[in-house]
This record gives sequence, structure tokens and C-alpha cells, in this order.
Amino acid sequence: MTAVDLIEKKRDGGTLSEAEIGWLIKNYTSGSVTDYQMSAMLMAAFIRGFDEAELFAWTEAMLHSGDVLDLSAVEMPKIDKHSTGGVGDKVSIPLAPMVAACGIAVPMMSGRGLGHTGGTLDKLETIPGFTTGLDPDTFARILSDTGLVLAGQSSTLVPADRKLYALRDATGTVPSIPLIASSIMSKKLAEDLDGLVLDIKVGEGAFMENQDDAHELADTMVGIGRTYELEVVALLTLMDTPLGREVGNANEIAESIAVLAGGGPDDLVEVTYALGSEMLQLAKLAGDDETARGQLRAAIDSGSAMHKFAEVIEAQGGDPRVLDDPGLLPKARYQEDLPAPSSGFVTVCDALKVGLAAMRLGAGRERKEDRIDPAVGITILAKPGDPVDAGQPLARLSFNDEGRLAMARPLLEQAFQVAAVPAARPPMILGEVRS
Ligand code: URA
Repeated sequence: MTAVDLIEKKRDGGTLSEAEIGWLIKNYTSGSVTDYQMSAMLMAAFIRGFDEAELFAWTEAMLHSGDVLDLSAVEMPKIDKHSTGGVGDKVSIPLAPMVAACGIAVPMMSGRGLGHTGGTLDKLETIPGFTTGLDPDTFARILSDTGLVLAGQSSTLVPADRKLYALRDATGTVPSIPLIASSIMSKKLAEDLDGLVLDIKVGEGAFMENQDDAHELADTMVGIGRTYELEVVALLTLMDTPLGREVGNANEIAESIAVLAGGGPDDLVEVTYALGSEMLQLAKLAGDDETARGQLRAAIDSGSAMHKFAEVIEAQGGDPRVLDDPGLLPKARYQEDLPAPSSGFVTVCDALKVGLAAMRLGAGRERKEDRIDPAVGITILAKPGDPVDAGQPLARLSFNDEGRLAMARPLLEQAFQVAAVPAARPPMILGEVRS
């Protein structure tokens, strides 16, 4: 078998066997198949797609490219949630402590921000002292002790995806349904879960811009879960406008703390409760949606969700005083407001443009190796549907560098549209797919 034979086969519309895919992923992980050969294969796969057998063989080969966690010592039901990524998507941060306070063990492995989408790890690391790089033993110990751990993927877990994702990012092959589905599901299957809730983002600010593609991605991931006897629920949620009002890193932690304190913007709270309800039902801790929501509300009202977040922050080396005093989070030196050009109603606040503007401020990365500025970001002061007067601020840019502000501001201006008549808002939850 040679890499060139397999590339040519896929290029010409052939079907790769399980043995061929296994050989390819194994040899790419070890380095004997080169990046340039795998780039060609990824583009062939991007254009030709995978049939069902290829998809499962690819996922299986990725899953076994490294270690698989053994969390059998954890007695509580282990349920994770994964989002396909969006702008202002900080849901994991309030959600994980909320469901952990209700009795679920949450072994959450998250990623870093890239391009216009933010990453949970970058946000968490703005909490002074908080560390997300945990070895598997520490990961399992914190999970057993607190019922919750918020970490990055260890280097021994699905190493094939680590290399492949970076290569896909550099070769324009990220937005492929089988490649996304196998990438996410191989990592989730390696977590030794009892159930998984997926948040499939749909809209301008997401990988899946329309509902048909999002449904296909959800079906594909739920199908992979079924093969591995992992119960999966996928919710399709709207990502045409940033979720909540804060886009950045430290400011998104402050907004997450507000949700745990019983406040927070309606859209963020709605998506958090919808996903949390599914997690509690998958764990069989609630028999229906209403009961599950009652449990989540009780975890907020009693302070147990906030207490759970304090516990995990402390366990991961962070300073839990940020929960009482978000002023301890990094703060940008300067702020500038973007005024509304006319009076009327905000009809558009484009998630993609806001995300790119935040990236230009330094809140995100253009390339994987870029460093982020944890303090900078954008606060949306008027969301679609809100009435505004001419000159009233639509958004606030928090920044540390005038040059970056000059790059970000024009994009943010383009993100907003104001019209005389308000536009109807679609619902936040657009659909669902279940095992
Ligand atoms: N997130 C992942 O982990 N993988 C993808 O392919 C896309 C988003």
C-alpha cells in the first residue's frame, strides 16, 4: 500500500477499505505519511465525501490513534456537551457547573479559538491561575472529586485529530461534514462517556450556514454514536448573531458568572437550559424537560451551581474570588463605542463580522500559533430587535492597541444594520436529532 495509490483512488471516486484507512491514519500519525500527501487526501475526501463504511473506518482509526480514557471509577453518569463553535458561545462555562451540581459527572474537553470562533480553554484561562493542561490521572482525579473537570485534550488522546485539524485549517478542508463529524466524535468517544449532547450551530457565524447542512451533520454524528452505543442528542441552535452580549475571553467569563448568579442575557440562558435539560434527561436524572429545568433552576437559586464552579476553579489552580469580584479578571486599558448611524431597530448584528472584529482586536487567533489578548473584546449593547436612537452606542470595543482598533472597527461597523421596521427573530432552537 502507498499513500499515492490511496490518494489516486479517492481522487477518482473510489471507496477506501477499512484496512486502507487504518493504514493511512496510523502512518500519518507516526509521520511516515507526509503532510503534503495527507493534504491531497483531505482535499480528495472533501470533494468526494465518504460513504458510511468509510466514515466509520475513519472515525475508528482516529479514535485508536492514541489512548482512550478509563473513567470507570466515576460512579455518576458521565455526560458531556460539545458545540460545533460560534461567536460569543460561552455556554459550556455556566452549563457544566449547573449540570454537575445536579449529579452529572462532566469530563469536559474543550478547544481553543481559531478564526472568528472563540474557544472555551482561552476563556477559562483568563481566570487567574486556572490551568487547562491536565495529565489523564489528574483529569480523572478532579472529575471524581468534584464531578466536573474543564480541560484541553491531552496530547495522547486522538493524536491523529490534533495533526489533521491543523492541516485541514491550513488547506481549506475544515467545513466537510464527514471530516467534522469524525473529528468531533472520535474525541468524544475517547472520553468514555455515557451520553453526549451536541450543540450544532447554524448561521452566518457557524461552520454550517444552513439548516439542511446542520441536519446532515447532526444525523452523521448521531449515527456514529449509535454505532458505538453512545446515546447522542443534537440540538440545532441559531448562530446568526453573537450569543449573549460579550465576545472575547475575560468578558465572556464575566457573562458566564452572571448566568450562574441567576442573570445573563435571555438567548444565552435559553440555550444553556435547553442543553442542560437534555443532559439531565440523558443521565436519567430527570424524566422530562420540565423536571430537568426545575433542577437546573434550583441549582442556580440555591447557589450550588456557583459553588460547583468555585470548587473546580480551585481544583484547577484558579482563584475562585473572581466569582464574587469579576473585576479580578484581566481588563483592557481603553474602550470606544460604536454609535448607531440612524434611529430605528437593529435588524442585523452579524456573528461572523463581530467574531472577525474581535479576532482583529486580539481576542482570537488568525493562525494556531498566535497569542491572544485575554482582556480585549466586544460588548454588544443593542441586539437585533432592540430600538435605538441615532448616536446611541450599538457596541463597545475594549482594546489595548490603537492599531488593532483601527483594523477591527470598520468590520464592526459593517456587522450592524439599523432599519425603520424591526425584523422577526427566528427561534434560538431550530431543531433536534436523537439516537
Ligand atoms: N471542531 C472539531 O473538533 N473538529 C472539526 O472538524 C470542527 C470543529
